[in-house]
Amino acid sequence: MTPKVAIIGAGNVGAEVARRLAEKELADVVLVDIIEGIPQGKALDMLQAGPVVGYNSQIHGTNDFSEIQDSQIVVVTAGLARKPGMSRDDLLKKNAQITKSVIENIKKFAPESIILMVTNPLDTMTYVAWKASGFPEKRVLGMAPLLDLARMATFIALELKVPVTSVSAMVLGTHGDLMIPVVSQTAVSGKPITELLSKEKIDQIVERTRGGGAEIVSYLKTGSAYYAPSACAAYMVESMLKDKQEIIVASVFADGEYGLKDLYIGLPAKIGKNGVEGIVEIALTDKEKVALEQSATAIKENNKKCEKL
Ligand code: LAC
Repeated sequence: MTPKVAIIGAGNVGAEVARRLAEKELADVVLVDIIEGIPQGKALDMLQAGPVVGYNSQIHGTNDFSEIQDSQIVVVTAGLARKPGMSRDDLLKKNAQITKSVIENIKKFAPESIILMVTNPLDTMTYVAWKASGFPEKRVLGMAPLLDLARMATFIALELKVPVTSVSAMVLGTHGDLMIPVVSQTAVSGKPITELLSKEKIDQIVERTRGGGAEIVSYLKTGSAYYAPSACAAYMVESMLKDKQEIIVASVFADGEYGLKDLYIGLPAKIGKNGVEGIVEIALTDKEKVALEQSATAIKENNKKCEKL
């Protein structure tokens, strides 16, 4: 039977995730939004690309949450996007409220699903989703660390003029100002990045990675990135649907790993049909360990702000 994936939020990210899943015939897709007409119109438009592109996936748009039932995975993109000058944290309270109401519906109509969060601020929204859902930790996870890693890999490839596919990057921690591009774990065709680029260049790449989302917002002015974010979300959906057991950086629930507890934070994790199948511990330098703790502290402060909403 063709798997079913629901996508909540038919904005740019949600619609692009739908398109990517449909084009690869990974799943039948239900696109849900509260705005009347948008999910219906976008879904029908994508369906009509099928005969030409050559896919038979079903794509259905609706305002009715009950249509998500039987979805294996629900991708949550609903929320406000950043405007220029706005930090991810400014979105905190508004998006926590939106997330809670979306999760109520997921609990009701797709209680066995895996929730993949995309809404920002990512780590805290994933925590809010986990709390509100009452789902086991492994069935709730967040997308953004993979996006940050992809950005770091892109910047390295641009700098060294090598294929992006030869770059193996690593980003941990929060999807926010304190994200940690892990230089000690980054290599090009097996060669440590520290042997290929000067410290100054590496520092520039680290900073550009941290500001990767804001750089796109500053160009687009009326919204944030969606091509790379949707690629990352679709990649993670594919890994789960195909039970790949691949190690992917994701926002996952830490329960003692890396000395961290009771929060969602970007860590390498094995991803499979059950969601998060396990967290993988890699060697970090002392500096990187301290940065991870700082990241965790910032996430926990945000989590606390959402408790009473
Ligand atoms: C970004 C936003 C979506 O990083 O957080 O592009």
